[in-house]
Order: sequence, then C-alpha cells, then structure tokens
Amino acid sequence: MRSMIYSDLAALQADLEANFQNFPLVTKPTDLIPGEGNAKAVVMLIGEAPGYHESVARRPFVGRSGQLLRKTLVESGLTEAEVYISNIIKVRPPDNRDPSPEEIMAFKPYLDAEIKLIKPKLIVTLGRFSMAKFLPEVKVSQVHGRLHKIKWQEQTLYILPMYHPAAALRATRVKISFVEDFKKIQKIINFIETASETDDFRATVEDALL
Ligand code: URA
Repeated sequence: MRSMIYSDLAALQADLEANFQNFPLVTKPTDLIPGEGNAKAVVMLIGEAPGYHESVARRPFVGRSGQLLRKTLVESGLTEAEVYISNIIKVRPPDNRDPSPEEIMAFKPYLDAEIKLIKPKLIVTLGRFSMAKFLPEVKVSQVHGRLHKIKWQEQTLYILPMYHPAAALRATRVKISFVEDFKKIQKIINFIETASETDDFRATVEDALL
C-alpha cells in the first residue's frame, strides 16, 4: 500500500475529503471526523471510531466516553491543548459496531500519515483496535499501563496501551485502572525524554516506572 506524505494536517484532511467516495461507510465529505489537537503534540491518543455525538460535532471523543477521557486527561496533569486525539477509522460505523478489517485498512494510510506529521513522543492506544495496530499479539487486560518500545515503519515509537474509556464507563474495576494508567503519563514522558538509546529498555523502564 502506498504511504502518503502531506505538508500538514490540513492537507491530509483536504485529501481525505476530496477522496471521500473511496472510503467504506462514507457518503459525503462531512461524514469524515478529523483528528483534533496540537499538531506538535507530545502525546497522541488513538481511539476506535467516532460515535453519534462525534459525527454530529465532527470532533473525536465528545460523547460520554470522550467526556471521561478529557476529564481524566486534565486530572492527570495534561492539558487538552498538549495532546492530539484521533481514531483508527474516521467515520461512524452503523449502530456503533466494531470497525471491520477492511475499514481499518482503508483509513490506515491516513492514520500513518497523521502519526508521521505529529511525531508524538508517546502514543496512547485506547482499546483493542488501536492497540492491535502496534501490538497485535497481546490483550489490553494484560498490558494496559505498561510502556512498550517498538519499531514501526523504521521509527522507534513508545506505545502505552490503555483501556477504552467506554469500557471504563461499563465497569468500576476498569475505570480505576484507566484513571491510574493516565496518572503515569507525565512520568513516562520524563522517562522517554531522558532515556538513553543505549539503555536496556526493559530494565530501565521497570526501574523508572514500576
Ligand atoms: N470512541 C472512540 O473510539 N472514538 C471516538 O471518537 C468516540 C468514542
């Protein structure tokens, strides 16, 4: 699949909208919900797919899950202006069903291009679909809140898998983990900024964060 290179996020969004007929589920350009936030964000959060409220507002994470996400973010010491929020697919699936593999593939070049433009220090995956993009072999319940360092398209990326806020709204136990995991983000950013390339990642991350 060809990889796409854009000068900025506005160019990426313009290209998505100009090619809206090529995407599953999209019947008009305004069905596409762009990512939002700081184009030079240190932290990029990637969710699953827009829901009803997101498709009306044309903004990611503004419904109930979004309110929990944004509140937890601010309570953990980050500001909304410091982060960038996006989704694996940029259109609302009918009845909020899971995105299909074909839908995920259709939007992949755009999400990849978004990541390359923003160059975040840390990617927080929200739920299993966005985690599977980087860590296909694991379960969220096993690895949430644990920092991973991976090679992705010839770059080093730091990935912090988290539960999806919708799962946190469904179960108190998950909500507690979701909030606790968020509290680690500042410490993780400091760790990433000071970690040396020659350090043994597993040994140092455990020393620094656990
Ligand atoms: N859930 C998501 O995964 N993304 C949104 O934008 C809203 C809810």
